[in-house]
Amino acid sequence: MTLIAADLANLYPAHLASLQQHYLDAAMLAGAAGVVIAAGALQPCFLDDSHYPFVVNPHFKAWLPITEVPDSFLLIRAGKTPCLLLNQPEDYWHQTPADPQGFWVEHWQVQSIQSTAEVRRHLGDARDLLFIGEQTQLATEWGFGAINTPAAMHLLHFERAYKSAYEIACIYRANQTAVRGHRVAETAFRQGWSEFEIAHHYLGAIKHREQQAPYGAIVALNEHCAVLHYQFYTQQRLAAAGLHSMLIDAGASFQGYAADITRTYAYRTGLFQDLVHHMDQQHLAIIDDIQTGMNYADLHAQMHRRLAQLLRDTGLVTMAVDDMLATNLTFTFLPHGLGHFLGLQTHDVAGFQQSRQGEERPAPAKYPALRLTRDIENQQVFTIEPGLYFIPILLAKLRQGPHQASVNWALVEQLLPCGGIRIEDNIAMLDGAAVNLTRLAMAEL
Ligand code: GLY
Ligand code: MN
Ligand code: MN
Repeated sequence: MTLIAADLANLYPAHLASLQQHYLDAAMLAGAAGVVIAAGALQPCFLDDSHYPFVVNPHFKAWLPITEVPDSFLLIRAGKTPCLLLNQPEDYWHQTPADPQGFWVEHWQVQSIQSTAEVRRHLGDARDLLFIGEQTQLATEWGFGAINTPAAMHLLHFERAYKSAYEIACIYRANQTAVRGHRVAETAFRQGWSEFEIAHHYLGAIKHREQQAPYGAIVALNEHCAVLHYQFYTQQRLAAAGLHSMLIDAGASFQGYAADITRTYAYRTGLFQDLVHHMDQQHLAIIDDIQTGMNYADLHAQMHRRLAQLLRDTGLVTMAVDDMLATNLTFTFLPHGLGHFLGLQTHDVAGFQQSRQGEERPAPAKYPALRLTRDIENQQVFTIEPGLYFIPILLAKLRQGPHQASVNWALVEQLLPCGGIRIEDNIAMLDGAAVNLTRLAMAEL
């Protein structure tokens, strides 16, 4: 499999060439002849001398695999070697970024700077340049001809949905890393560790600091699995008799690209473990259904049909499948979307965007949480993450509504302490086939 052996050094030049074309096309739309991309600045905390963790501008890390370089800039001009203005200030409080090394450096002109003010000297006439970044006030002061111009951004964001071979290889490597963490986390769960301990075992296994991960890992035990983006790590260990389930939604980063993987485990055999098994089968069946040309929103709707059938087959809901869909009853058990684009950002841009011009197709009224309404095409990477949850707030509403008699509440009560299930893999569309990067990485370990 080429993904496994992919040599990033060989793939990078084509990635760079396609970026150059898109960014210069975007500049032209903004009436500019080149582009400046700001990595971003450190953001101070209110009334404090510390700052928030640095998150680099995704337009910056699209070009090169360095992410912890505040106040650095890229300068892209037609016919010129792309230039990295790397901020290496004299600073004995912090470590200054080292001179870059790696397969990508030979494709760049690297210019060391000591301050943002110095950048201006390197730009020449800023009126001829499109600025992309957060520091719009600075860009205005410097006299840029165009700043984050919507027409340019629409083009760039639309094209970001089509990943280069280099990008897909990076997302695959991120999956390899995350899968190592998931294995260790499952073992820690089975040994009865706390959420806090499992989360730290995970980070240790993927060798990331918390802020290097693409998102805060969700490590949920028991009823916490019903909180879709559960954000705490309880330090208490649960006795085996009271331990039912773990949902872990945890990723990894590689060269600025994200993996986004979820697994759910039952602590013992029985009803919940059977449900996890059925959800896993449905998850794989959805992926089998994927074809280029189909719309992702239709795949999402099909998933609700599968869920309705599962709710009926397991006796949780007695209503006919069509009626469950017509009344939107499945929403109670699955209130989020089937998935989203994945890449430089966990929820990558342009999930609704239908053209380079920026027209959008919003989520269907019935499924407002869906983040992806584009047709499925080659070179896209997205997640498939169906779920089945027992969420007290939503169940209470169902119980007070007209369909309460169609639900087997005794079964629901039995499953409430398990919280819920989500299974999430990362899919790349290659030559018309849905390649499951996550299961490929799992099979390798
Ligand atoms: N980890 C967030 C998500 O799955 O979308
Ligand atoms: Mn996701
Ligand atoms: Mn996730």
